[in-house]
Amino acid sequence: MTEATASAHPNIALVKYWGKNPDDQWLPITPSVSATLDTLTTTTTVRDASEDRVTLDGVEVHDAKIAHWLAQARTKFGLPSIAIATESNFPASSGLASSASGFAALAVAANEAFGLDLDFSALCELARMGSVSAGRSMLGGFVRLDPASNEQVVAQLHPRDHWPLRMVVAVTDPTQKRISSTSGMARSASTSSYYSSWIVDTGKDYRECIAALADRDFPRLSKIAESNCCKMHALMLSSKPPLLYWKPGTLAAMETVGKLQEDGLDVFFTIDAGPQVKAFCSPEVADIVQEELQVTPGVDHTINCGIGDGPSVH
Ligand code: PMV
Repeated sequence: MTEATASAHPNIALVKYWGKNPDDQWLPITPSVSATLDTLTTTTTVRDASEDRVTLDGVEVHDAKIAHWLAQARTKFGLPSIAIATESNFPASSGLASSASGFAALAVAANEAFGLDLDFSALCELARMGSVSAGRSMLGGFVRLDPASNEQVVAQLHPRDHWPLRMVVAVTDPTQKRISSTSGMARSASTSSYYSSWIVDTGKDYRECIAALADRDFPRLSKIAESNCCKMHALMLSSKPPLLYWKPGTLAAMETVGKLQEDGLDVFFTIDAGPQVKAFCSPEVADIVQEELQVTPGVDHTINCGIGDGPSVH
């Protein structure tokens, strides 16, 4: 039997991607920068089968995103019928980037199981066919995804030990989000008058973020990451009908981060297409940040992670 297992970690964007290239659905319209995490892991096993089957955390499911990925991957890379069994140690589809780690692990496992022998660029493309941000989980440390790059679209900016930041996730609602990123992005692109400014601003934020990471300049990174995140949520809110991913606990957690900043702590927030707040901080203050977020009203639980590595084959 042909079989392989791979693991990958989610990544959290410091400069976000919200909008696809109209001519290539696997490429974003803007560049982005992320940090790959440790602790949170998706592990996926693929094997050949008489028909496609998907098991998520032990339960057989029909997953539209995976079905779409299979159709694309079959056309481009000639995948046979496969059975996929995937497990994550964190809630899926709630803004914790489970699709990024999921499709990165799936691409690596499929490449291994079926001897596709893809080079890094093609492997990233296979991951991006499921979720554009999965391309960034193909590497560890600090990663950039630049659709206009003359070199690799996905590249590592720095390995994990360049800057041992911590990230505390404040989980405010572990249930699945109602509007997927793909349909939310399409809505923003077609209905928000902020969309063109978002594209221009994100290009500038991208360059600023890369400089702040190179210098390990926390105040500069904090400013750019919070600003870029808030611009993405302003874009979401200005879509018609509005996209609101926040819960009361989201705002309360943002306020907690603001109070800790006033006390002089190196911490900033970022939020994706879900209600969870991710607080990046220096390692010295990670325990205080976690304690304060844990007792913030509306926060269900917290998870404390570091910067992690790229995918591994078992
Ligand atoms: O790649 P997707 O479809 O999971 O979209 C990711 C979108 C955000 O998480 C909101 C931003 C980002 O760059 O990760």
